[in-house]
Amino acid sequence: MTTRTVQPPTNAFRAEVTLPGDKSLSHRALIFAALAEGPSQIDHLGPGADVAATRHAVTRLGVSIDGPRFDSPGVSGWRPVDSPIDCGNSGTTIRLLAGALSPAGFRTSLTGDGSLRRRPMERLIDPLEALGANVVLSDGGTAPLQVGGSGNRLQGADVVIPMASAQVRSAFQLAAIQAVGGSSVKSPPGFRDHTERWLIAWGLGEWHDSGAFFIRPGAVPPGRYVLPGDTSSAAFLWASAAIHPGSRVETPEVSLNPGRIGFLQILESMGAEVGAVVTRDLGGDPVGTVWVEGRGLVATDITGPLAVAALDELPLVAVLGAYAEGITTVRDAAELRAKESDRIESSVAMIRALGGGAEATDDGFAVVGTGWLEEGAVAAQGDHRIAMAAAVAATGATGPVTITGADAAAVSWPGFFETLEQTWSSQ
Ligand code: S3P
Repeated sequence: MTTRTVQPPTNAFRAEVTLPGDKSLSHRALIFAALAEGPSQIDHLGPGADVAATRHAVTRLGVSIDGPRFDSPGVSGWRPVDSPIDCGNSGTTIRLLAGALSPAGFRTSLTGDGSLRRRPMERLIDPLEALGANVVLSDGGTAPLQVGGSGNRLQGADVVIPMASAQVRSAFQLAAIQAVGGSSVKSPPGFRDHTERWLIAWGLGEWHDSGAFFIRPGAVPPGRYVLPGDTSSAAFLWASAAIHPGSRVETPEVSLNPGRIGFLQILESMGAEVGAVVTRDLGGDPVGTVWVEGRGLVATDITGPLAVAALDELPLVAVLGAYAEGITTVRDAAELRAKESDRIESSVAMIRALGGGAEATDDGFAVVGTGWLEEGAVAAQGDHRIAMAAAVAATGATGPVTITGADAAAVSWPGFFETLEQTWSSQ
């Protein structure tokens, strides 16, 4: 575990920053390239440990990788693995692979680190079992879990998933494209629809007026994936600019998927100047440039689908709330408790460790905006987004912020601290 001390910026900063490849899209590109038979290429794959876990998993299934080039025997040629696949800290890896591997003729065990083995996996059971898959969880409904090898051919099914989880929807879809007969899935709104957009591009899926997404079984084609910058990583830099009046950060080529940009809406409602232009389309995802300029912050209240579309950024909302005028509240975000840490408790603890006022509720938190935070020490609690949010909290702090367990940031963004410091020193 490493400790890092972040010194607040001394002046207003203005920077243009290129982001590492998007984590959500990287997992999906790796799994789709592995499902497809033949050569694929992935440009700008995310550099974090989570993506490396998915990359390693697909090599164990028989995919050969040489730089950005992938060669897969296709899903029918995947070879059984004789020991559990280690998904590390990555919920996306374990849930998407559980779906992709559940139709297999062989059994696969999927596991991860201590945090991942505490996270809920029961949510996979109903949708995958509706297709006839056999999913066995450990006691307590967690990983290690086992999928595949039931000898049954999966049959299409129509399911309703009670939470707006892109991971669970994607697990279902990755199994359903391998079933006999069509399927459909419905869930509450707000989720990132990256998987749906790729399935539509290949003729394997379509939206229905009822809000259901229909999945047609079929082969994923091999191809070339060019991935945009990571929107959730960019959010840390946007937040820092929003805290510091007169500062500006511009990020070209980030995914502007509607399920990813709820945080921009929040920044705007809190008083930051926000601009976004779509410059191109990659795999059906709108991609573009975003800029954020700080002008002083006011409190906001976040509920409903906006809480889902900004879920990964809510620790940052806690930080912004501390620097805003008024009381900021977040509700309808109980899912935060099922992340890499209990992000309701870890966000509140972060604000309090820096002398701010914050209270947890069952499904969110409230932060009292004092306009400043003090120097102090924050425990990352093994959670990359808490480690990085604590560094952003230093933007307007009265002194340095020390982060214990700062190395957790490498789960999504190795090099984050260096990039933040460079951003702060750019004029
Ligand atoms: C992700 C979906 C979200 C998000 C996670 C990545 C994905 O989780 O919080 O960081 O890539 O599908 P849920 O779908 O479980 O809400």
